[in-house]
Amino acid sequence: MVLPGRVKLVEVGPRDGLQNEKQIIPTAVKVGMIDRLCDAGLSVIEAGSFVSPSWVPQMADSGEVLRAVLANPRRRPGVSFPVLAPNLRGFDAAVEAGAREVAIFAAASESFSQKNINCSVSESLKRFAAVVDSASALEIPVRGYVSCVIACPYEGRIAPQKVAAVAQRLFEMGCHEVSLGDTIGAGTPAAVQRMIEACAAVVPLDRLAGHYHDTFGMAIANIYASLEVGMAVFDSAIGGLGGCPYAPGASGNVATEDVLFLLQGLGIDSGMDMAALLVASEYIAQHLGRQPASKAARALLARRGGDA
Ligand code: HMG
Ligand code: MG
Repeated sequence: MVLPGRVKLVEVGPRDGLQNEKQIIPTAVKVGMIDRLCDAGLSVIEAGSFVSPSWVPQMADSGEVLRAVLANPRRRPGVSFPVLAPNLRGFDAAVEAGAREVAIFAAASESFSQKNINCSVSESLKRFAAVVDSASALEIPVRGYVSCVIACPYEGRIAPQKVAAVAQRLFEMGCHEVSLGDTIGAGTPAAVQRMIEACAAVVPLDRLAGHYHDTFGMAIANIYASLEVGMAVFDSAIGGLGGCPYAPGASGNVATEDVLFLLQGLGIDSGMDMAALLVASEYIAQHLGRQPASKAARALLARRGGDA
């Protein structure tokens, strides 16, 4: 078995992470978090979400966040800041704020689609096709998500073939990458490998990403299982933040610090710097008033504290 030599991490903390916080985080703090994540070497940082503010008030300032991030003269070049757009209205607002990459988000479960975006899977794919068309006219790349790739909070287990069918539609529509979301963190390594294999039969493996929530503590094991079958793109959130307000029981994403610790141990390059990542981790932890959920971050910060 040969693991990938290089892995790309997509940081979703400023979006998936902060959309699920009870408190509204000030715009300046979001910008400070993204700037620090940039400094840590991440090349893709999901900056926000152009969804209805009555559905997700935490993301209402995404336009201001994106504008401020893009205006930072110290910003490392070559970093992309995708934002979620559920429909043309969100897409237009994202472009207006300067977005140069967007993400659309479908589901492999009908019930979750209804609860999350208030329409059926097939209706959502029609809306997303319109977003992809508008984006392609502006040469804006679109990333696709499939939620509930292992299980749905309302329907239970989801068959890998159902996931593959939605992933294929998103890819054929024009998404450059399709991220497979274990929304409620129900996956275990063998189930995750079966799901990836079903998707890789219809979408090239190098266009698939793993997006694993850590509800049952399996996310790192699931990333390792995904590396074993050749997947090389993973979503993660600083401090293990995250969850979807419309997925009851979902907890945070796999922590970026934990994934980096794993990759470093395996000798897999990700272009990231742990010391700088810990700066970002401490920054947001301080603002949220709690320790990072990442065990790696806690251990490394405690060791650093002890050294001082
Ligand atoms: P709806 O109520 O069916 O939409 O919501 P509507 O078209 O009837 O519009 C209702 C109101 O929303 C109207 O305003 C629209 O103008 C407004 P009103 O006239 O009542 O004042 N509206 C918007 N406002 C701002 N931006 C927009 C927009 N669209 C309509 N883009 C809608 C449909 C999709 C808008 C809604 O259901 C929604 O915003 N849902 C978002 C839910 C969400 O963000 N969930 C979290 C992200 S997904 C996730 O976390 C999973 C993921 O991480 C992967 C994984 O873990 O599995 C990606
Ligand atoms: Mg998620």
